[in-house]
Amino acid sequence: MNDSTTASIIDGKATALGLRAWIGDQVISLNSNHGIKPGLAVVLVGEDPASEVYVRNKRKTAVKLGMESYEHTLPADSDQETVMRLVQGLNADPKVHGILVQLPLPKHLDEKPVVLAINPLKDVDGLHPENAGRLMAGNVGMVPCTPLGCQLLLRRRMRDMTGKDAVVIGRSMLFGKPMAQLLLSENCTVTTAHSRTADLAAHCRRADILVAAVGRAEMVKADWVKPGAVVVDVGINRIPGEGKKAKLVGDVDFALVSKVASAITPVPGGVGPMTIACLMFNTLRAARLQNGLADVDMPTDF
Ligand code: GUN
Repeated sequence: MNDSTTASIIDGKATALGLRAWIGDQVISLNSNHGIKPGLAVVLVGEDPASEVYVRNKRKTAVKLGMESYEHTLPADSDQETVMRLVQGLNADPKVHGILVQLPLPKHLDEKPVVLAINPLKDVDGLHPENAGRLMAGNVGMVPCTPLGCQLLLRRRMRDMTGKDAVVIGRSMLFGKPMAQLLLSENCTVTTAHSRTADLAAHCRRADILVAAVGRAEMVKADWVKPGAVVVDVGINRIPGEGKKAKLVGDVDFALVSKVASAITPVPGGVGPMTIACLMFNTLRAARLQNGLADVDMPTDF
């Protein structure tokens, strides 16, 4: 093994802490200068254990940064009308600046009308078609948190992405599609690959920037990666570990790919912590915009 070929680690945990500190300062001045406390409402329907962990972390982070957190837990058998009414109530509540409905919803519920019901100004997930359209049109709107976090990690690592070949594996509204738009806005040449892509490995091998969001443990192998590429791993997969404990791994085979890439995000400690930090950033922005204050750009250096 040659150490000189081992990728540098892109530390999402440290970056998220830096971003959170910056947001915390912004919240303090928003409160002292304007008497505004950003409020985030999180809606959880049912008892999915992974979702419960995410929701708890979102609440804890919001409170730590001086924001107000409103948690709404509905029983798993809630009907569509109940969820819709809750969202409408949150739209009308001036203390709530951001609304996040934790996905996936239980199977009997239709997610689309729920997302459509969220006021686009409060849509801190950036999932409403109005925000998706704004991103595509290059207009200011709410950007989904995970791709926004990846963009920040890439900006800090690469500074200028102009002309780079970027491949995103995944095409969801929550990640793949907005990630492709953000890379396009960084002047990359972007390919969106997915489960039906023919010869996925060949596409990946052309990438200077490879972003994997497929949800399949360690699928991206070393021979899929161009030497020197920057690799961002969005996957969070639980696989059996030693003893009874589950182990968290990404969509990228970290041990092997880190010998080929120039830089790589680990799992855990890469993209994950950035998602929550970016949710707090979106909530801060939402609070400012809903109070007629100037927008803030995502800081790159902090
Ligand atoms: N479930 C997993 N990730 C997310 C997210 O970013 N937003 C929402 N609403 N649900 C999720």
